[in-house]
Amino acid sequence: MATGLAIRVVVGLAAASLAAVLLEHYGLSGSPSPLPQPRAPRRPHPAPGLGATNIFWGLQISDIHLSRFRDPGRAVDLEKFCSETIDIIQPALVLATGDLTDAKTKDMLGSMQHEVEWQAYYSILKKTRVMEKTKWLDIKGNHDAFNIPSLESVENYYRKYSAVRRDGSFHYVHSTPFGNYSFISLDATLNPGPKRPYNFFGILDEKRMKELSILAKESSQSNHSIWFGHFTTSTILSPSPGIRSIMSSATAYLCGHLHTLGGLMPVLHTRHFQGTLELEVGDWKQNRRYRIFAFDHDLFSFADLIFDEWPVVLITNPKSLLYSCAKHEPLERLLHSTHIRVLAFSLSSITSVTVKIDGVHLGQAIHLSGPIFTLKWNPRNFSNSSHKIEVIVQDSAGRSKSVHHIFSLQEDIHLRFDPLASFILLTDHYMVG
Ligand SMILES: *[C@@H]1O[C@H](CO)[C@@H](O)[C@H](O)[C@H]1NC(C)=O
Ligand SMILES: *[C@@H]1O[C@H](CO)[C@@H](O)[C@H](O)[C@H]1NC(C)=O
Ligand SMILES: *[C@@H]1O[C@H](CO)[C@@H](O)[C@H](O)[C@H]1NC(C)=O
Ligand SMILES: *[C@@H]1O[C@H](CO)[C@@H](O)[C@H](O)[C@H]1NC(C)=O
Ligand SMILES: [Zn+2]
Repeated sequence: MATGLAIRVVVGLAAASLAAVLLEHYGLSGSPSPLPQPRAPRRPHPAPGLGATNIFWGLQISDIHLSRFRDPGRAVDLEKFCSETIDIIQPALVLATGDLTDAKTKDMLGSMQHEVEWQAYYSILKKTRVMEKTKWLDIKGNHDAFNIPSLESVENYYRKYSAVRRDGSFHYVHSTPFGNYSFISLDATLNPGPKRPYNFFGILDEKRMKELSILAKESSQSNHSIWFGHFTTSTILSPSPGIRSIMSSATAYLCGHLHTLGGLMPVLHTRHFQGTLELEVGDWKQNRRYRIFAFDHDLFSFADLIFDEWPVVLITNPKSLLYSCAKHEPLERLLHSTHIRVLAFSLSSITSVTVKIDGVHLGQAIHLSGPIFTLKWNPRNFSNSSHKIEVIVQDSAGRSKSVHHIFSLQEDIHLRFDPLASFILLTDHYMVG
């Protein structure tokens, strides 16, 4: 499927005579796409410091494709994810963005719903008690909607065996003492659900667009909104003004569906013209990918991870310049922060969290509480241009992980996304197809 997908998109790419024009439009021409202006008034506080509050984190997992015919390891590993990984990371919530099941025929050519695949999914949720440990928000992907004559059909097993069990988009608010955070699901699966390969694209009709606008309005008082769905926006057909406009108040749209394009595109991240990040995560099916994301003092950060690789490390302050957006985040807090902040998790206890900036050793971050480590810094020492922060984490079993990114305290500096990723995520492929 991944290879088929890759071929389809790559052929689409080659066939598109628009490619040159579009590539220019999406960033090869030299000037970065215009970013929205900062919203007033500016909110420098609370700024990241030595407090254990104002922070939470969650996970995303996508394209699990539990199958009765192929790779039982998908289920075995999912069970370990729901127990060991969840126990160590303790996310506030988990977004499972569709293709929970594979729903293929034995020869892998056709499609059909298999109740046993759904039973396998639900029994993992139940056995691991993951729904008691965290908020598990699962939605349908195109595979979960194959061959379903109507939502009322008994074959709509999502209604019986998922955690959410409710068709359509919904709005979940994660409420904390320091703010409200909206998570809006985007259901663009087809109803009735056609068989393979006729539901590669999702559809939003006027009614669904209206519902989504209402959810967007409802979330306007929240500190942040995250939208999550199965399809990339480039594989959703939607009426004017288009799905990207409807979600323009979102800090990020988290999705799946394209897997890693058969390994060709392990990173599919971009930013909409309206400022919203679109972050596709690689699949669980073949690549065992998942993602951690965090809001630290209302600054958004995330890392794409591989299952069972430890330590897991996320630098939450200073956050990555590439994924910064002054329209959605109080970026001035970087300059007002007193501490570098890092989340670090592992199977055994963390023994060191070393911080370097521009290759120069800055110090060891100190354990604050839970997975939070902090190191005092003076951001004014880095107020010019951009800098590279590197964090090396070691645990007591000798495991080690190094992560790095570019940050900047200057708001007029921008980095550009990979033009090919932007092309894949921002082109309306159904137009090309
Ligand atoms: C969340 O928003 C509220 C209301 O605007 C604000 O008082 C609070 O400081 C925000 N939380 C954080 C962590 O910035
Ligand atoms: C979160 O939302 C509730 C209900 O709308 C509101 O009463 C509360 O003040 C909000 N909390 C924060 C910190 O903004
Ligand atoms: C900031 O820079 C000054 C001068 O280069 C140096 O003495 C000081 O230690 C630096 N402070 C921090 C927190 O890095
Ligand atoms: C930043 O740049 C200005 C002007 O180029 C210079 O005077 C100042 O020393 C620089 N500050 C730091 C912290 O490098
Ligand atoms: Zn999939």
